[in-house]
Amino acid sequence: MNLISAKEYLHLYDSEKHVSGEGTCFDGKGNFYCCVMGDGFPKILKIDPWKNVSVFCELSTDDIPCGLIEHQGRFCCCGLNGILYVIDEEGTILFKKESLYQNRKLKMNDLIFIEDDIYLTDFRGDFLHPDGGIFILKAEDNYEKPHLFLDGLCSPNGIAFHENDLFISETTRADLLRISLDEDLQIKEEFGIMPIYSNVGKGGALDSIKMSKNGFLYQAVMAAGKVIILDREGLELAEIHVEGKNRMTPNLALNEKEGYGLILAFGTDGLDLMKFEIEGGFKMKAAIFDLDGVILSTDDLHYEAWKKIADQEGIYFDREINNRLRGVSRMASLEIILENADREYSLEEKEKLAEEKNGYYRELLKTITPDAVFDGVRETIDALKKKGIRVAIGSSSKNTKFILKQIGMLEEFDAISDGNNITHSKPDPEVFLKAAEMLDIEPEDCVVIEDAIAGIEAAKAGKMRAAAVGDARKSKLADDCLDDIRDLLNLFD
Ligand code: BG6
Ligand code: MG
Repeated sequence: MNLISAKEYLHLYDSEKHVSGEGTCFDGKGNFYCCVMGDGFPKILKIDPWKNVSVFCELSTDDIPCGLIEHQGRFCCCGLNGILYVIDEEGTILFKKESLYQNRKLKMNDLIFIEDDIYLTDFRGDFLHPDGGIFILKAEDNYEKPHLFLDGLCSPNGIAFHENDLFISETTRADLLRISLDEDLQIKEEFGIMPIYSNVGKGGALDSIKMSKNGFLYQAVMAAGKVIILDREGLELAEIHVEGKNRMTPNLALNEKEGYGLILAFGTDGLDLMKFEIEGGFKMKAAIFDLDGVILSTDDLHYEAWKKIADQEGIYFDREINNRLRGVSRMASLEIILENADREYSLEEKEKLAEEKNGYYRELLKTITPDAVFDGVRETIDALKKKGIRVAIGSSSKNTKFILKQIGMLEEFDAISDGNNITHSKPDPEVFLKAAEMLDIEPEDCVVIEDAIAGIEAAKAGKMRAAAVGDARKSKLADDCLDDIRDLLNLFD
């Protein structure tokens, strides 16, 4: 078994009264959030590791926070006495519920999102009562009422989800349960119990579980003051030690994209945040660039060509409509333009118009020279290649190769996936998945650089990391927002 030491520290509080509550999470942008107690009400801190620490949200209750999650810009925090908050990304509390289940409060301890629904553990009654369970709060009924999902668990304290398996830590028996779900998230197999007494010790508070995308479980152990790493069968692989600290909050968060995890530890000298490396964490091997709007701008040329068609047909068309065509295939673009037509067009007519537009567009493309390439693009691609990163194009345009030739970049890429080899346009991930396949690299190991919201959606649907430039920076789904394409290199350090 390996021993891993947490090396970097960020000192948060001097005093022991600022112990951590039990909620920690990352958002999609690499910011870390943790619940802390203190004078007055508990609060959620936002930490941009290792720089700025600020109060993200004051929780207007004296309930002890015990679970925190983030999902697409929405935070959910639960308290030990059953309070549930939903918080937006500005830190504003959208709603707060005090009593979720008839007249009884749930004693919540941890929660996760599975798709849009929130699963939360509930240990009802006292700790030793074998009467805990898991509830689901359905997104469709606005998380109003809990639906019982699993009953009769023994003080479940932490939950994690990986592929179709749900992992639950049972504090009282210090066991780890594994439950297989089918595709509709119904229980498929009876759960088996994996006793992991050996390291934890009977009765040790086995709390937070975080699942890494490589299928390892990271589990924080309160009483014994450590974090253990298990495989999915419950076998211990490594142990994380925090020097000089013997008390650790039972919570941790993983930032796999960057390849590290954070633990909160406290003792008489206060509260510290500690960083440990995740071995075999997220390692990007390829960058897939969208073409139009990322390598160069063709917006004006598309506009000019479509405008000609629209004027010919007497259809209203402006720049704003043109913006909606970004990342969208030629035929789908035409459909958007025809929304303003006062008659129906047959398929044949549509095909003819699309072809005609392409004729105009190709003429305009002939005027493009290597100077059209955005600043920083060539040097970024060169630097990536020097780092051994594979580079590809993933574009909906059937003119991709023609454009690359015009700008003198046809030979720059290890793979070109474009409008000619796909049947589904973005936001479908097909064009990017094909690029990954051509490179023989797993989608999870690719980052997509996109200027269109549809492109960011496509990257995420393909399980890739999504870096947004231009307009796409508005997308909540983007993992990274780049002000300058050269910033892409920071993701590969
Ligand atoms: C995308 C552009 O790259 O390609 C879209 O962002 C365009 O605006 C699409 O509609 C299809 O392009 P083409 O060159 O095949 O007509
Ligand atoms: Mg684009």
